[in-house]
Amino acid sequence: MTNVEVKTVAKHYGGTPVLTDITCHFAEGSFTSLLGPSGSGKTTLLRIIAGFVAPDHGNVAIGGKDVTHTPVRARNIGMVFQSYALFPHMNVNQNVGFGLARRGIRGSAARDKIARALEMVRLPDFGARSPKQLSGGQRQRVALARAIVTEPTVLLLDEPLSALDRRLRQEMQVELVRIQRESGLTTIFVTHDQEEALSLSDRVAILDRGEIIQSGRPAEVYERPRTRFAAEFLGDSNFMSGTVRDRTIVLEDGQRIATGFDLPSDGEHATVAVRPEKMTIIGGHDPASDGENQLSARVTNVIYAGPALTYTLQGVDGTTLKVFAQNRDGRPRETGETVTLVWKAADTVPIEA
Ligand SMILES: Nc1ncnc2c1ncn2[C@@H]1O[C@H](COP(=O)(O)OP(=O)(O)OP(=O)(O)O)[C@@H](O)[C@H]1O
Ligand SMILES: [Mg+2]
Repeated sequence: MTNVEVKTVAKHYGGTPVLTDITCHFAEGSFTSLLGPSGSGKTTLLRIIAGFVAPDHGNVAIGGKDVTHTPVRARNIGMVFQSYALFPHMNVNQNVGFGLARRGIRGSAARDKIARALEMVRLPDFGARSPKQLSGGQRQRVALARAIVTEPTVLLLDEPLSALDRRLRQEMQVELVRIQRESGLTTIFVTHDQEEALSLSDRVAILDRGEIIQSGRPAEVYERPRTRFAAEFLGDSNFMSGTVRDRTIVLEDGQRIATGFDLPSDGEHATVAVRPEKMTIIGGHDPASDGENQLSARVTNVIYAGPALTYTLQGVDGTTLKVFAQNRDGRPRETGETVTLVWKAADTVPIEA
């Protein structure tokens, strides 16, 4: 069992809390993305799991064994650091073999393992090159080979793709998932990129100011964000607030919004989130059908991006709304047009404001 268990972990730096009461579980063989803004504590959490940083409080267990006081070397973890520095004076083989040498594995045993790791990252003939003879993506793959060569039980990746351009990044995403699936390594992957997190992982965890505010399967977290922060951090959202009456939300201008979920009691304030792609723009006078919400709004901006359009609109009460639309069904709407937005009650998610 090589799951990772983090229990009530806290960390301060000079009196400033960086992580507060982190409890999370990373299942064996799973791929979890850790998402959060800069400074939210992602790297600190990875360093605590790896053993480079000791928590002030709490425990880390790997494979059911408490490793809170176990040194880095004895944890058998592979890590790719945020700045993916390879040792510049060593060639690729030496870089990849670094962890093996430290473990006393040398000679043909080491050579075999290095060759296999380089094959895994699809750089079988690059062993003799120096890091400066590699592209950014190739360096990244060497860093990955260096992390997996010691056959770790856990792989920690700290924004390993952030330095790469879009194309290379997409290629590396596919490679990463392949390597993870083939090796079955329990993987924790830090990223700023929400699409990357949603598309690559079995689970995502959102970190905000040192706390995990929500975690779950990508679709769970995306479709049912619990807070405004989660809704905004993982994708875009429209927010509408009002007073609860008869299981609907009455906006300031009197329009009613239905939701498929429980709401606070009558008279209380409530906020809902709706994803921009869940809303459809219809003609000014078409009525919405049952189970749908509708709202009149004026187009204030249109971004035409070929296959898709992004509309910015203003509701009657002044709320700014965003709609993502496919480029089909006739002409795009124009700035200044008044339109009707429709969307399902089931896509209207109450959140903690
Ligand atoms: N060794 C340290 N000494 C003092 N403060 C630190 C130290 N390491 C991190 N911090 C602080 O802890 C907070 C969290 O840092 P951390 O590197 O974990 O954030 P992060 O989520 O990885 O951010 P980024 O996305 O920018 O990489 C920051 O405010 C940072 O300044
Ligand atoms: Mg970081």
